[in-house]
Amino acid sequence: MNFVGENILSVSQFSRSDIDHLFLVAEKMIPFANREKVTRVLEGAILGNMFFEPSTRTRVSFGCAWNLLGGEVRETTEIKASSLSKGESFYDTARVLSGYSDVIVMRHEQEGSVSEFAEASRVPVVNGGDGANEHPSQALLDLYTIRQEMKSQRKQVDGLRIALIGDLRHGRAVHSLCKLLTLYENIHFTLISPRDLGLPQKYIAEIKARGHAADEMEDLTSGIANADIIYMTRTQEERFSSQEQANRYRGLLRLNQSIYTEFCQPNTVIMHPLPRDSRGEAQELDEDLNENPNLAIFRQTDNGVVIRMALFALILNVADQIEASSRDVNWYTQGRFDG
Ligand code: NCD
Repeated sequence: MNFVGENILSVSQFSRSDIDHLFLVAEKMIPFANREKVTRVLEGAILGNMFFEPSTRTRVSFGCAWNLLGGEVRETTEIKASSLSKGESFYDTARVLSGYSDVIVMRHEQEGSVSEFAEASRVPVVNGGDGANEHPSQALLDLYTIRQEMKSQRKQVDGLRIALIGDLRHGRAVHSLCKLLTLYENIHFTLISPRDLGLPQKYIAEIKARGHAADEMEDLTSGIANADIIYMTRTQEERFSSQEQANRYRGLLRLNQSIYTEFCQPNTVIMHPLPRDSRGEAQELDEDLNENPNLAIFRQTDNGVVIRMALFALILNVADQIEASSRDVNWYTQGRFDG
């Protein structure tokens, strides 16, 4: 993959060497994400950040990533604030917005919507999540985090044992991550979910076709015992026909410190794409884990910035100019990012 001028719609676009390349560029972004250096390589460029579904970290970190490269961000955050609510087609919206932007990031509840939009767009489009289908940039930052966490334990991604837990049927972050991990060797997937919320067969088939192991189960405690990574997820209530339907699954699979201490190996890393549902009836990832050093959820969110900076730098072909165009920041800055 060349990256330059390309859409990022699915993790299926990436080979293992593309990922290595992306991660090398992401590492170069650390001084910028860490507010030690500034660069203006994207001065004058405009990002169209179109989020037609709720989002905090994906939207803001895409915007920050662009700003940290020196560009400006224009944002639409609700369908009702856009002409899609007046019946405008993706085609027309894409033709219009691509006249105003250099890259567009889009999130929408409909599967395939971002690809349809990209076909009509005159500038590259990045999928910020299309319904229950895919969320490629989340999977890339998750994989980057997994690699980093395993490295600190002197392990590799090859041979990883990962337990994915929760609403695996609707979780687009899970779908993209499972596909991406199949590029590595000998991954053991433990898929823990209520029976009706299992990982769709097409993903399981892909895992198995590439020679990896996948065990499906409903019981949390036996599934997490040998995991290197626990990847917890939220019940995707917005994908159910009613709140009552979603309520049936809330709180069925929960991880807290006492379960972790009793059933996990001491270094098991805990991840979650976030948001975690912290309402009493849900709490899939208890706040009593906040001080657990193996809780990697905020390392994931920090990593989102460098991964998204790297994607933009590669798509717009400025990755090689960044070092030469950088200078130290002028303001007091406190290092915040481990990299
Ligand atoms: C995820 C999403 O929107 O798919 N969040 C995110 O982008 N980090 C997961 C979720 O909403 O549960």
